[in-house]
Amino acid sequence: MSRAVLRDAFGGPEVLQVREVPEPHAGPGEIRVAVRAAGLNPMDWQIAGSARHAAMFGITGPSGFGCDLAGVVDEVGQGVTEFAPGDRVYGGVLVGAVADHVVLRVPLAPPNLLRHTPDGIDDATAAALPTPGLTAAAALDAIRVGPSDTVLVGGAAGGVGVLAVQLAGATVIGTGSPGTFDFLERLGAVPVTYGAGLADRVRALAPDGITAATDLHGTETAETALALGVPPARISTIAADRQLPGVHATGAFAADPAALERIADLVAAGAVTVPIAESFPLDRIREAVALQAGGHVHGKIVVTL
Ligand SMILES: NC(=O)c1ccc[n+]([C@@H]2O[C@H](COP(=O)([O-])OP(=O)(O)OC[C@H]3O[C@@H](n4cnc5c(N)ncnc54)[C@H](OP(=O)(O)O)[C@@H]3O)[C@@H](O)[C@H]2O)c1
Repeated sequence: MSRAVLRDAFGGPEVLQVREVPEPHAGPGEIRVAVRAAGLNPMDWQIAGSARHAAMFGITGPSGFGCDLAGVVDEVGQGVTEFAPGDRVYGGVLVGAVADHVVLRVPLAPPNLLRHTPDGIDDATAAALPTPGLTAAAALDAIRVGPSDTVLVGGAAGGVGVLAVQLAGATVIGTGSPGTFDFLERLGAVPVTYGAGLADRVRALAPDGITAATDLHGTETAETALALGVPPARISTIAADRQLPGVHATGAFAADPAALERIADLVAAGAVTVPIAESFPLDRIREAVALQAGGHVHGKIVVTL
């Protein structure tokens, strides 16, 4: 038998159940990953919580849970050459990552994505990378941030934000609550509180102005950047509830998949850190999801298996 997080209905953490299921095996053209860690993302509880949201990803009924995983290939079906038993891997699947075993068809077809885990990265860290890494890369690529930029990052302390701050390669002003300030400074950002008066606070921190912005929470940062004279083409959003004219609305879907390997290499080299806010064993999945859904995590939440 094998454990998997499943849900029969849509709802909050209470609909998630850790169940014993028949152990899946890799058939011809498939591999099986023994999952060691799963990184949680807002889309996990958004899909589990709303039939409307789930339908946007083609999910209409009961399903597994979670997208980002890391582990070890422990079965390889006939005809597979890309992976071998014992390979350490990390990547993303469209729900079902939080399970002892995940079977995938090879070659992988989007949105499924699996890469070899570089030496020097543990499974919890690798599992924290796929969705946030691709999303941070897309958000920064859209606005072509470079070393001469002063970029405002909205929601800088979240799972996507901690990577965007470090990957920007620019002067970064990052929004967060006051409790995040030390954390954001350690990541290399100048912290600023979000909320009313943001434009004035940013003006005080950057008297020469900001040149680009990425809003990783909603639209406040993007609208502040517009008010401060940043051209819309140099502003991106990933979680906006409406389109702002000329502003790039982007996300993981738009990322170059190769960006994930580049980020993992930076992590392996110690040039980028992945703060793990808290790690939960599988039987505490509901607690982990409730914390994630609270919206104030600093870094990443990981479930270990
Ligand atoms: N389009 C895509 O492909 C894509 C991919 C990934 C994520 N997303 C979306 O992007 C958003 C961020 O994802 P994530 O994984 O980084 O989420 P997350 O880790 O849950 O983000 C939590 C962070 O949001 C900050 N925050 C809370 N309220 C805020 C506010 N009013 N203004 C600015 N920051 C605020 C919190 O800071 P404090 O604790 O200091 O309040 C916390 O650090 C989510 O809405 C997610 O659904 C989209």
